[in-house]
Amino acid sequence: MNTIIIGTGYVGLTTGIVLAYLGHEVTCVDKNPAIIESLKAGIPTIHEPGLKELLDEAKDKLRFSDTIPPLRGEGVVLIAVGTPTKDNGDADLRYVDAAAKEVAACIRADAKLVVVNKSTVPIGSARHVEGIIKRSLAQREVEATVWVASNPEFLAEGKAVHDSLYPDRVVIGASEPEAVNLLRELYAPLLEQTFSAPLQTPRPENYSLPSLITSSPTSAELSKYAANAFLATKISFINEFAGLAEHVGADITQVARAIGLDSRIGSKFLHAGIGWGGSCFGKDTQAIITTAGRYDYPMKIVDATIKVNRQQRLHVIERLQQQLKVLRGTTIGLLGLAFKGNTDDLRDAPALTLIAELHERGAVVRVHDPIAMDKAKEQYPELPVEYCEDPECLAIGCDALVIVTDWQDYKHLPLAEMKARMRGDLLLDARNLLSPVDVAEQGFAYVGVGR
Ligand code: NAD
Ligand code: UDX
Repeated sequence: MNTIIIGTGYVGLTTGIVLAYLGHEVTCVDKNPAIIESLKAGIPTIHEPGLKELLDEAKDKLRFSDTIPPLRGEGVVLIAVGTPTKDNGDADLRYVDAAAKEVAACIRADAKLVVVNKSTVPIGSARHVEGIIKRSLAQREVEATVWVASNPEFLAEGKAVHDSLYPDRVVIGASEPEAVNLLRELYAPLLEQTFSAPLQTPRPENYSLPSLITSSPTSAELSKYAANAFLATKISFINEFAGLAEHVGADITQVARAIGLDSRIGSKFLHAGIGWGGSCFGKDTQAIITTAGRYDYPMKIVDATIKVNRQQRLHVIERLQQQLKVLRGTTIGLLGLAFKGNTDDLRDAPALTLIAELHERGAVVRVHDPIAMDKAKEQYPELPVEYCEDPECLAIGCDALVIVTDWQDYKHLPLAEMKARMRGDLLLDARNLLSPVDVAEQGFAYVGVGR
């Protein structure tokens, strides 16, 4: 099926490449010409495991452009542009609005299209986008068939290709059966898993076919916010208990295992640490609180989730202060900048909060990240840090090391060499990534989260 993706970021690019791999003719559009140039040269502009390989395999079905082609005949247009937070907490729809207008301007008379909000958008956005498109068509006196649907995306960064190929469910919110049918056709290879799994992203064992949930656009829109708020709440819940575990002398990793094995609770998203970050949880929890506020409906649980998370990041600073007493004049080495392992994304990364707080308290901050350092230098040229090529270099002169990002590489740090280069002996494992016993054996004072 002829498919156009507007916006080739983490969602748009992954979705575009995956749909091309499944056999559709896909045009990926981005207004940033540098992104398009790089993609045309076969180089993905984001770090996602398996994406480059899939791009190579699907390249015959893919086109990249900085303008939308004329939209004729039957097809699907997926809007996957950013929806960042506005000052009042709302999702900023300016990129969605601009994309909808640009799409509308390219629709030709014979078109039969479903335009899809794949971006995470506030309740009512399907109708809002439909209004933009219909008004434009009326102004241009173009008679085309256009439906607007909501199709929220649930992929997580760092496993975007995996999540796109093997989703738990596909949610389609549409008012007209024709729109549902076109999207069902688009996703048929996923729903039926008729494609051969790429070598680098194999189908998980015991994977069962994803459910197709069809609903009203409003329910689909709310499902996305509910999913992210629930996952963020689960993490804040375990982090709150991690704080209590520190007081009573329990180990939160054992507590998480004990409760996670209850199939009603489930073991995922119970990993205590530095608190959640990233491009979605913060903005989406804030946006749903703002939406609910318009109905005078306080979202008390979501509100508490955000507060616990804010505190969780600062707790790392408190622990450092408890151990080192005075932070002014100390040198702290941060292992990790990205908001989580396997991504280069720095949006709402806990490392940025730590850097600001430590700098404010007069500490010198050294940083290492296996992938995200170039992006950090580019996006935050003023970041008050010293960049280090590898963990051994990072350790030089440090009073304390902090594991900020759960990179798998950090599970195998050369601890003895690192300890030998430090001034102090503190290792604060803000991700509970390492074994306290192993770390202590290398001469470190180990501090984890809730253990
Ligand atoms: P992103 O910032 O990585 O990418 C957005 C892209 O859209 C950018 O490359 C930008 O240049 C492009 N763009 C903006 N306006 C455009 C226009 N008019 N025409 C063409 N291109 C345009 O964003 P993202 O992280 O992929 O997120 C996109 C949406 O998906 C957001 O609403 C987000 O909440 C949602 N989402 C994100 C994730 C995730 O893990 N990142 C997961 C699920 C849902
Ligand atoms: C999230 C949702 O998982 C995804 O469904 C949605 O589409 C986009 O938002 P993402 O932000 O990419 O995905 O990553 P995710 O794996 O959910 O992690 C979010 C944050 O929570 C990260 O900072 C991560 O380190 C943290 N986290 C996750 C924990 O602290 N503990 C956990 O147990 C799980």
